[in-house]
Amino acid sequence: MSSRSSIQLIEIQPFERQMMPMSPETTPNASNHSLIQPLTSVTELLDFDAMFETRQPMELELGSGDGSFLVHYVSLNSGRNFLGVERLLGRLRKIDRKARRAGLANLRLLRIEASYFLEFLVPPGCFDAIHVYFPDPWPKRKHRKNRLINERFVELAHRVLKPGGRIFLRTDDQDYFAQMNAVFGASRSFSSVETPTELAGVVTDFEQGFNAKGIPTLRAAFRQS
Ligand SMILES: C[S@@+](CC[C@H](N)C(=O)[O-])C[C@H]1O[C@@H](n2cnc3c(N)ncnc32)[C@H](O)[C@@H]1O
Repeated sequence: MSSRSSIQLIEIQPFERQMMPMSPETTPNASNHSLIQPLTSVTELLDFDAMFETRQPMELELGSGDGSFLVHYVSLNSGRNFLGVERLLGRLRKIDRKARRAGLANLRLLRIEASYFLEFLVPPGCFDAIHVYFPDPWPKRKHRKNRLINERFVELAHRVLKPGGRIFLRTDDQDYFAQMNAVFGASRSFSSVETPTELAGVVTDFEQGFNAKGIPTLRAAFRQS
């Protein structure tokens, strides 16, 4: 056996850099550049004013999937800024392509886990609305602890919404729908409101699939008092 030891040089990336999608999508914004925002820190609050070209009311979608809802809804609302959060990079890239083809200047995308994002990266009182459509239902009883919409989520929504801000929820899952209504219904910070017809008319990818099979959309909306 050789007495020479082999030395390997390993570059340790700071955690924050590892969290970033290191790809051309992270280039700075311009109309022909990616809408996917690089995360420069996983501990400091995000500066949304620096992210968008125009300061205007801001809405958030968590778990944007293929972006069918987001791209359509953003194109109808140029007087608002939108943030799409999704944990899967492939899906974010798809949304990015669609949104740039549609020339949307008021949309930005973030690859991050939704609860972590709300808990640690969002300054208080910055969203006018939150949209959560067809979040993973985790139907098995022992997995229900993984559901996004729970008691803690209500507290986080309360913190990041502006006074009077609204949260819009949709699901196909009866049990999850009951949970959504129970946790928001139990909060003195929220009251139940109607989903506006024009918003309900913009369907998501999963919604289209469920409705085509005859499974109806269950909708709930709550306003922060
Ligand atoms: C069932 S799909 C629904 C997608 C879309 N909202 C729709 O209705 O077509 C749920 C989406 O949320 C994303 N997702 C699930 N849990 C998440 C989390 N904790 N943080 C961020 N994204 C999440 C998944 O990757 C997936 O794209």
